[in-house]
Amino acid sequence: MAQIGTDIHAAVNCLNEGNLIGIPTETVYGLAANALNPKAVASIFSAKNRPHFDPLIVHIGSALQMEEFATDIPDYARKLAKAFWPGPITLILRKKSIIPDIVTSGADTVGLRVPDQTLTLELLQNLKFPLAAPSANPFGYVSPTSAQHVNAQLGNAVCYILDGGQCKVGIESTIIDCSGETAILLRLGGLSVESIESITGKIEINISSHSNPKAPGQLDSHYSPHCKLEIGIPEKIVMDNQPAALVLFSKQRTDYPINHQFILSAEGIAEEAAVNLFSTLRKLDELGYKKAFAELLPEEGLGRAINDRLKRAAF
Ligand code: TXA
Ligand code: MG
Repeated sequence: MAQIGTDIHAAVNCLNEGNLIGIPTETVYGLAANALNPKAVASIFSAKNRPHFDPLIVHIGSALQMEEFATDIPDYARKLAKAFWPGPITLILRKKSIIPDIVTSGADTVGLRVPDQTLTLELLQNLKFPLAAPSANPFGYVSPTSAQHVNAQLGNAVCYILDGGQCKVGIESTIIDCSGETAILLRLGGLSVESIESITGKIEINISSHSNPKAPGQLDSHYSPHCKLEIGIPEKIVMDNQPAALVLFSKQRTDYPINHQFILSAEGIAEEAAVNLFSTLRKLDELGYKKAFAELLPEEGLGRAINDRLKRAAF
């Protein structure tokens, strides 16, 4: 198990020595290494058991650093950065050669993001390099939204976990491909399509999964708890000696034991549901559920990204 705390200097020391640490972001916790050190980056892939064809996001301390790592930056990308960084949006840009190939899985583009998390921004200001960081979970499992989640699964792989408490967004960043003439949304996430379209106008969405070379990490099956998840709540739920859990947006079912119901947001707010989503999926495993039914949210705002995660968890 790793040491957990808020000591920036401990985190800096680990990273300077080429080790991995857990970092808080507003979306989910990341498993971070010096992005400019290929050996350190390689250890991210092995710790997560992540296939090498799945590129990593590079976290920077401010939008000004875009120029250091990316080139041919289109105007619309600058506008997105200005409007939403620090925040839950990753921009895919043509990379400069300073970014090692292992970070981008050989692609000529790099994903950049300025996270909106005080401790991690302070950490980035104390480093001479940006941070490559995927979500800090074993490949395919539910993403971590607390330092304890990171410790539970990757505690042995990290030298330190910076503790920023519970993530305030709760699902991963929205990914926008900015390597072409116009923006293309590759992953639904913590920034709604509506917010992005307020800057770009109507945006093309290409989140189709397995065969999409633009976002190789967007596999159909992802974010999965061990508990078998099914989308939709049956009209009548059979109670046997292994009761199923219900993951509900806001309203309880009156015809089912309350202790097996998990409400994402009692007030019916998608932002709150996002914050609770991954910890709820983890709880199903912690409590030993073998089966759960999940209700989808209305397809708007963050509801779209939450539904995307639920469907992949169920695939
Ligand atoms: O919110 C987030 O984005 C979190 C926090 C830690 O920042 N990170 C995260 O990383 O979700 P990860 O590795 O779990 O997901 C990154 C996704 C992958 O699906 C990957 O395929 C895509 O970003 N990606 C990264 N670089 C890319 C590139 N150059 N071109 C296309 N997709 C890229
Ligand atoms: Mg991930």
